[in-house]
Formats: sequence, C-alpha cells, structure tokens
Amino acid sequence: MASMFLIMCVSPLFFFFFLAVSSAPTNELDGGEKVFDVRNYSARCDGQRDNTFAFTGAWNDACQWTGERSTVYIPAGIFYLRQVTFAGPCKSNITFVINGTLLAPRNPYAIKQKEWIVFKYVDNLTVTGGGLLDGQGSYSWPLNDCSKNASCRPLPMNMAFEFVRFSRIDGITSLNSKMGHFNLFSVENFNITGVTITAPGDSPNTDGIKIGRSKDMHISNVTIGTGDDCIAILDGNTNLEISNVRCGPGHGISVGSLGRYKAEKNVEGLTVRNSVFNGTTNGLRIKTWAKSVSQTLVSNFSYENIHMINVKNPIVIDQQYCPNGQCDSHGNYSSHVQIKDVKYNNIWGTSTTKAALNIQCSKSCPCQDVVLSDINLVYKGRDGLVTALCENVVGSVPGKIVPGDCGI
Ligand SMILES: *[C@@H]1O[C@H](CO)[C@@H](O)[C@H](O)[C@H]1NC(C)=O
Ligand SMILES: *[C@@H]1O[C@H](CO)[C@@H](O)[C@H](O)[C@H]1NC(C)=O
Ligand SMILES: *[C@@H]1O[C@H](CO)[C@@H](O)[C@H](O)[C@H]1NC(C)=O
Ligand SMILES: *[C@@H]1O[C@H](CO)[C@@H](O)[C@H](O)[C@H]1NC(C)=O
Ligand SMILES: *[C@@H]1O[C@H](CO)[C@@H](O)[C@H](O)[C@H]1NC(C)=O
Ligand SMILES: *[C@@H]1O[C@H](CO)[C@@H](O)[C@H](O)[C@H]1NC(C)=O
Ligand SMILES: *[C@@H]1O[C@H](CO)[C@@H](O)[C@H](O)[C@H]1NC(C)=O
Ligand SMILES: *[C@@H]1O[C@H](CO)[C@@H](O)[C@H](O)[C@H]1NC(C)=O
Ligand SMILES: *[C@@H]1O[C@H](CO)[C@@H](O)[C@H](O)[C@H]1NC(C)=O
Ligand SMILES: *[C@@H]1O[C@H](CO)[C@@H](O)[C@H](O)[C@H]1NC(C)=O
Repeated sequence: MASMFLIMCVSPLFFFFFLAVSSAPTNELDGGEKVFDVRNYSARCDGQRDNTFAFTGAWNDACQWTGERSTVYIPAGIFYLRQVTFAGPCKSNITFVINGTLLAPRNPYAIKQKEWIVFKYVDNLTVTGGGLLDGQGSYSWPLNDCSKNASCRPLPMNMAFEFVRFSRIDGITSLNSKMGHFNLFSVENFNITGVTITAPGDSPNTDGIKIGRSKDMHISNVTIGTGDDCIAILDGNTNLEISNVRCGPGHGISVGSLGRYKAEKNVEGLTVRNSVFNGTTNGLRIKTWAKSVSQTLVSNFSYENIHMINVKNPIVIDQQYCPNGQCDSHGNYSSHVQIKDVKYNNIWGTSTTKAALNIQCSKSCPCQDVVLSDINLVYKGRDGLVTALCENVVGSVPGKIVPGDCGI
C-alpha cells in the first residue's frame, strides 16, 4: 500500500490511469469535470519543500474552470505547506480532495495570517479525501500565554472558511492545531460530517470547531477530542443542527462567551442531539460575561438524547462569567444577555462533581422558558449526593429529573 501511495504521489499519469480504470469522471474534454492535480504544479511530497505556490496555482486554475465541477487533487504523501489562502469567487463547483497529509511549519510565526489554510468567498465547495491536516502544534503550545496574558498573541488556527456558502467538509482529520482547528466565520448552508479532530486534553486553546456569524449549518458524525471546546458557538449564529458528536477530552459544546463586546448579535436556533461527552470538563454550556455591554438574545435551543460519561459539569448556564479577577472591583455586575426557550430532554450519565445541573442566570435578565425533562445524572464521588444549583431561572419541569431540587 505504502509503495503504491508513493508512486501515486510521484506520477500524475498513474493517477490518470487509476481514475480511468475506476471510471471516475475526469474527462476534461466533455466540458463537465476536470481534475487539477497539484503534482502538475510542481508540488513536492517530501515533507520539506513549501507547496504554497503549487497549491495556489492548482486552485486558481480550478477556480477559473468554467465546466460544471473542478477538482483540486492532493494525492497521498506528505506536503509541507507554509500558509495558503484559496480565494473565490470561482466559476464552477469545486471539490478539494486532500488524500495525503498537509504539514504545517513548526514555527507559528512563519504563518503570517490568522489561519494556516484559508478558504474564502467561495460557494459550492467540498473539502474531502480522507487526508490529514497536521498543525504540528506541540512546538508552539509552550509559546501560548493566553491563560495569563489577556493581550496574548494568538497563534494560527488550522483551517478557516470565511464567507463560504452551500459547502461542506466531509472525511478530513485535523491534528494538533497550534490554536483552534476549524474556524468558520460568516458561512451559510455549510455542513461538516465524518471529521475527526484530535489534540491532547492539556493542549492550550485547541478548540475543535469555532463558529461565528453563520447560519444554516449541520454538523454530524464527528469525533472531537482537544484541550478546549469541542465546538464553540460564538455570537451571531442562527440555525445550527449538531448531532452524533463524540466529544472528549475537551470543554464540551459551548455557546459563548457572549456579551463582552458591543456589536455582538443574537444566537438563535441551536439543536444538539444524539451525542456523547466522555471525560470532558463541561457538557452543554452557555456562558455570558457578567460585565456585559451588549444586550443580545440567546433563544430556541434544544438539547436532546445526550449521554454524559464522567463529565465534570454536564449542564451549565453561567451568566456570571468574569475571569482573571475582572469583577473584583466594586460594581454590580449582571449580564444583559437574555437566555430564553432552552429545552433539555433525555440527558443521562455520570457527573464527576456534585452540581450536575448548574444554571446560574442573570439577576437583571433571568432565564425564561427553560424546560427540563428526563434528566438522570449520577454523581460519581463518595462525599454526597448529586445536586442542582439554579438561580434566576423561570421555566418548567414536565418530565422526571435527577437531580430534582432545582426549584423551577
Ligand atoms: C498537467 O498539465 C498539462 C499541461 O498543462 C495538461 O495537459 C495535463 O492535463 C495536466 N495534468 C493534470 C493531471 O492536471
Ligand atoms: C453546482 O452544483 C449545484 C448543486 O449543488 C448545481 O445546482 C449547480 O448548477 C452547479 N453549478 C454549475 C456551474 O454547474
Ligand atoms: C451553488 O449551489 C447553490 C445551491 O445548490 C446554487 O443555487 C448555485 O447556483 C450554485 N452556484 C454555482 C456557481 O453553481
Ligand atoms: C486516497 O485515495 C484512494 C483512492 O481514491 C483511497 O483508496 C484512499 O483511501 C485515500 N486515502 C485516504 C487516507 O483516504
Ligand atoms: C502579552 O502578550 C503580548 C503579545 O505577545 C506581549 O507583547 C506582552 O509582553 C505579553 N505580556 C506579558 C505580561 O507577558
Ligand atoms: C447539509 O445537510 C442538510 C441536511 O442533511 C442537507 O439538506 C443540505 O443539502 C446539506 N448542504 C450541503 C451544502 O451539503
Ligand atoms: C462517520 O465518519 C467516519 C469517519 O470519521 C466514517 O468512517 C463513517 O462511515 C461515518 N459514519 C456515517 C454513518 O456516516
Ligand atoms: C429553532 O431552531 C431550529 C434549529 O435548531 C430551527 O430549525 C427552527 O426553525 C427554529 N424555530 C424557530 C421558531 O425559529
Ligand atoms: C470514554 O473514555 C475512556 C477513556 O478514554 C475510554 O476508556 C472509554 O472507552 C470511553 N467510553 C466510551 C463509551 O466511549
Ligand atoms: C444591583 O442590581 C440590582 C438589579 O439590577 C438592583 O436591584 C440592586 O439594587 C443593585 N445593587 C447595588 C448595590 O447597586
């Protein structure tokens, strides 16, 4: 197998032959689909020479192709890539096949943009191929001082999609990003399936998927284990459906932190279902700054069929978030983010702290229409029983819940 990949990496002709016998549609003469193989643009799979120029060349030709569909093809092999931006708009639908490994520079400052690999202003893009993005983050994690330094210099994330519509990522693995793995900003009609994201549980800020200002997204069948949020949902998102996530280690599926900046927008329409959290610090979390300046709405959320395995804080709403002593000075801090219409249904498993259900809403904007049903969370320790902590919550409990002393 390895030797075949080697041949495939070196010889485009072999690839043509391969496609011909496997009857993949690649005939450039029929005006329909055309394959732009990076080897034809002097790409080198030696893991050392930079392929930025080769990949950009293949992308630009694929992007200008006027047939129905063009494919950028990166075969098996290890391709070193310093940084790249694949920009549209393009004339056809594009499939971006990563079959091999893309290797990032070890030195984070070699990357002069916010993310290592960026797709922007593109419609109808599919990124697929079973390949690997290796961020080589272990070399830069010691440089990350963001836990102590509020004005820390962010390290590049692995891959970004900005202003991308009608597109999907399917069957890609992202490993050891320097900071987060996938950053989605202002995407629309965007799906993520069959993706695996891996970084050690103690690696700093290695969020799995970060989403901001986006709408109509589906994320399903993904396996995410990192040192930060498996999925982080920031402000301005509408209509996200998330299912079949295996999350852990990591900080769970998190909405927020919201409310810190003035221009923030609402988060409306989130469904998370049929998912497992294993050994995470949080499960389902919504977090807003106590010291908030924006008055936004978080609403129409539904969490359903969720299995928690040894999760520290399975269900959390924290509207008193104020890290690094920022609320120590005198003041009456109370978040202005309104949380409304949040349903939790059929959530079971084990918590490693007693307060398995912890809903701390804002004094000035209490949570409304919080519905809890069929919750069964068990505390794994020996020093007491599972408890619920609820403050400033209005809602209902139509189904049996354990812990049950939440008082709403
Ligand atoms: C490589 O480039 C040549 C010359 O432009 C072209 O004829 C051929 O179709 C290309 N092959 C691939 C695999 O893209
Ligand atoms: C791109 O694909 C969409 C379906 O996903 C199709 O409607 C559209 O016609 C295709 N575009 C071109 C240029 O063929
Ligand atoms: C992209 O896909 C959308 C939805 O399928 C379609 O309406 C649009 O025409 C496509 N764009 C192009 C350039 O093919
Ligand atoms: C690369 O492509 C080949 C041929 O399509 C496929 O058999 C193989 O599984 C792919 N490699 C990966 C890592 O998906
Ligand atoms: C915080 O990070 C910035 C940017 O890298 C740096 O200039 C500054 O010296 C750091 N501050 C501290 C206290 O380390
Ligand atoms: C995303 O998934 C949804 C639901 O499965 C589907 O209706 C939609 O067409 C998909 N969109 C893309 C761009 O793949
Ligand atoms: C889920 O994704 C994995 C790749 O991570 C893939 O092998 C598997 O077929 C997918 N399952 C479904 C039901 O799509
Ligand atoms: C609530 O959110 C879901 C997606 O999670 C969406 O499908 C539905 O249309 C939204 N309902 C309203 C009333 O906005
Ligand atoms: C949860 O994680 C532990 C430790 O990584 C592992 O041994 C166990 O099999 C996982 N459980 C499930 C149900 O995935
Ligand atoms: C703090 O805010 C609450 C609600 O906004 C108000 O009722 C209360 O008087 C304030 N307390 C102080 C000390 O300002």
